[in-house]
Amino acid sequence: MNTVTVRASRQYDILIGKGLLPRLGTLAGKLGKARKVCVVSETTVFPLYGQVVTDSLAAAGFCVVSYVFPAGEERKNAQTYLQLLNFLAENRLTRSDLIVALGGGVTGDLAGFAAATYLRGIRFIQVPTTLLAAVDSSVGGKNAIDLPSGKNLAGAFCQPSMVLCDIDTLNTLPAEVFRDGCAEVIKYGILYDPVLFSHLEQKGLCFDREYVITRCVELKRDVVMEDEFDTGARMKLNLGHTIGHGVEAKSNFTLSHGKSVSIGIAIVSRACRCVDTPRILAILQQFGLPISTEESAEDILFYALSDKKRSADQVSLILPNAIGDCSIVPTPIDQLESFIQAGL
Ligand code: NAD
Ligand code: GLY
Repeated sequence: MNTVTVRASRQYDILIGKGLLPRLGTLAGKLGKARKVCVVSETTVFPLYGQVVTDSLAAAGFCVVSYVFPAGEERKNAQTYLQLLNFLAENRLTRSDLIVALGGGVTGDLAGFAAATYLRGIRFIQVPTTLLAAVDSSVGGKNAIDLPSGKNLAGAFCQPSMVLCDIDTLNTLPAEVFRDGCAEVIKYGILYDPVLFSHLEQKGLCFDREYVITRCVELKRDVVMEDEFDTGARMKLNLGHTIGHGVEAKSNFTLSHGKSVSIGIAIVSRACRCVDTPRILAILQQFGLPISTEESAEDILFYALSDKKRSADQVSLILPNAIGDCSIVPTPIDQLESFIQAGL
């Protein structure tokens, strides 16, 4: 098992390894004087891992209640959020009690936002069960729900009290969902770490999960500790995301987030003539991720601009110079269409 410690507005450990779920109760017991735990999960994940999690918490002396919502991004909304808050209140969770988010990024974002706001904030533990959640959404304290006008438009910064990443849970992930998470893993290699990138090139989808997840989490930990509230260095984590979001939104979200990010990374790499573009395109293809789209630059731009990361008349593009070296480049909106066109 590997431990990565985050020192941000709250200090917490991220534990990464095999066979960790049965240890959740004991580990949660060390966090303080909580008596009650609400496990928040969804209808795909809870039947797989809900029992081991609730048994472990009950064996450690916690009174356990579970809130299980229908799986899917479309349920990461205000209605589910309010129902969850109400469930917490009906079950009389107090400020010293705990929430456990058991699932992928949808569950983590929803449960994290509820934890940030219920009784003005109670502690929570992230138990990520997708690769994306393990390397990205469970770490760093961002949480959100979607509004009818866009994704992740209501949320908060609130760090968890612990992240428990049992890599055995990834064994039940559908191959396509695992592949989507790989786009984020490759992103870390391009942004910060040529050694990680080379490992992924050599091993492909059979990469060493414990090493790779730990390395991605360390890299994200460093960024979060430098820029917890996302005003500078943390923006780099959006590599491929602004243009990828345009592609994803234009597809009416039928194209997955991971595939859209992959296309976004490919477009910016080609457009800025990164010296390592051939390696970047090759690794995305090696992982079965797309590197091109039929959409026009005009359409991609239109949908990309609905992205909330836009500020005033420019957007901050993250551009790779080489593997392990990327820059934040403020780009005027009126230059963006020709930039995208150059990368198609
Ligand atoms: P998800 O939570 O919807 O999980 C993807 C699919 O995998 C779902 O169908 C789910 O039921 C299933 N699943 C989850 N774990 C499983 C397992 N172990 N075995 C079998 N099936 C399993 O989506 P995701 O890709 O994990 O996360 C996407 C969400 O994360 C988006 O809402 C996005 O906005 C958010 N996100 C947040 C941050 C952040 O910093 N807070 C960062 C990136 C993404
Ligand atoms: N997923 C981007 C961030 O945490 O900032």
